[in-house]
Amino acid sequence: MPDARLTIDPGSVIGPIRRKIFGGFVEHLGRHIYTGIFEPGHPTADAEGFRQDVIDLVKELGVDTIRYPGGNFVSGFRWEDSVGPVEQRPRRIDLAWHSTETNEIGLHEFSSWLDKVGSDLMMAVNLGTRGTLEALDLLEYSNAHGGTALSDQRIANGRSAPFDVRMWCLGNEMDGPWQLGHRSADDYGKIASQAAKAMRMFDPDLQLVVCGSSSAHMPTFGEWERVVLTHTYDDVDLISCHAYYEERGGDVDSFLASAVDMDGFIEKVVATADHVGAVKQSAKRIDISFDEWNVWYIDRYHEVDKLSGVDNFPVAPRLLEDSYSVLDAVVFGNLMISLLKHADRVASASLAQLVNVIAPIMTEPGGIAWKQTTFFPFSITSRLAQGEALRLDLQAPTYTTAAYGEVPLVDAVATHDAETGRSAVFLVNRSTTEALDVTIDVSALGEIAVLESHTLADDDRSAANTLEDPERVAPASNETATISAGTLTVTLPPVSWTALSLG
Ligand code: AHR
Repeated sequence: MPDARLTIDPGSVIGPIRRKIFGGFVEHLGRHIYTGIFEPGHPTADAEGFRQDVIDLVKELGVDTIRYPGGNFVSGFRWEDSVGPVEQRPRRIDLAWHSTETNEIGLHEFSSWLDKVGSDLMMAVNLGTRGTLEALDLLEYSNAHGGTALSDQRIANGRSAPFDVRMWCLGNEMDGPWQLGHRSADDYGKIASQAAKAMRMFDPDLQLVVCGSSSAHMPTFGEWERVVLTHTYDDVDLISCHAYYEERGGDVDSFLASAVDMDGFIEKVVATADHVGAVKQSAKRIDISFDEWNVWYIDRYHEVDKLSGVDNFPVAPRLLEDSYSVLDAVVFGNLMISLLKHADRVASASLAQLVNVIAPIMTEPGGIAWKQTTFFPFSITSRLAQGEALRLDLQAPTYTTAAYGEVPLVDAVATHDAETGRSAVFLVNRSTTEALDVTIDVSALGEIAVLESHTLADDDRSAANTLEDPERVAPASNETATISAGTLTVTLPPVSWTALSLG
């Protein structure tokens, strides 16, 4: 008897996979920018000082839109500091990360880096310590063609064509007491509505993201979304979700089921948004921008990462440099499955973050860049998940977790691209002890073969890629994946993530 069964039916569509769900996030935080993406003098640095080894890895990762410049950083940020002649830019205290921001990299430089990696910009404005006017100024500087003070300033600074930023976040995590300028839902909803209306007076076609909750476990969760959307429903397109997961107190079983929490988070925000829409008798639908998600050992490293002291604001300190294990990558891959399972309502998502800071890519100053374990599920899913996400009729044994009760041992999603005829299926085995056999009915796909198989697993689930051993972990092809008479069978090792490409 197989352990789990599922059926792939290209007619059972959840929704189109919008490429923005494979987005990333770059914050001025720790060594993300400085010695992460930018390191003049590095052996691979290009003429602008960007590390080519990192550019190559970001391209291989397959990230779409990139959110910038924060994060908590944005709530204390003066965008004007980061444009104009570099030598004249002020050094500023960054209170969010207790660091010094040199402003060597700003909008122009970051935009040039985005061109090199082939990604679009998703800009966050400061609605923490600033307001509508400053957001409008940044919009004019970025997107106006010329002939006005700020657009002419951009042109004088060397950029004649507008940056034409299409997607804008109205602040960051405004529900969080740690946020500079943290507000109540009512206060934030009013400010976000004003800023959004004003920005739309410049360009009604901007895509605007209002801040939702920093986690589904915030004390204000649910009510925050209701109140904020009551103010902004007609003004914005998307509401954000942020979620970070970690193994707490050795409870690996619950950690492996983190995607259950993400599923619930998305579904509750959708329900709340649709409720507000119903109350307003609106035909409009608000979708989700899951613009911060990852595994992050906040509890484990909090003290290490906490800087303090009025004379201690270092430039680019090592912060949030989590090392990711095989176990972390399996949970991470499952979070991507959750995003795809909600492709009908998750229109955009940003892996937080990209380089050095809770990142799939690590660098050593003057040295190598390498892939963390989480690099693999992201790059493979981004490449193989094309077309539409499919609903699966999944039957799997369950196990009991302290955090989420009884949950399936297997989670999965499939995709199908009608243009190429290719499909893909992504699976995790959450069992810490048992391999699981999965039987997949693929008869609706016609004559197909397994084109690629990738399984990430290891006898040592704590194995990681490090500076000393950067290639310790990589996915291997799964030779158990075979198709016969419309049935695909595959064995999933304990604590594993698998991707199969079919066509
Ligand atoms: O990604 C790290 C931090 O997590 C971001 O700055 C903030 O938005 C969130 O709390």
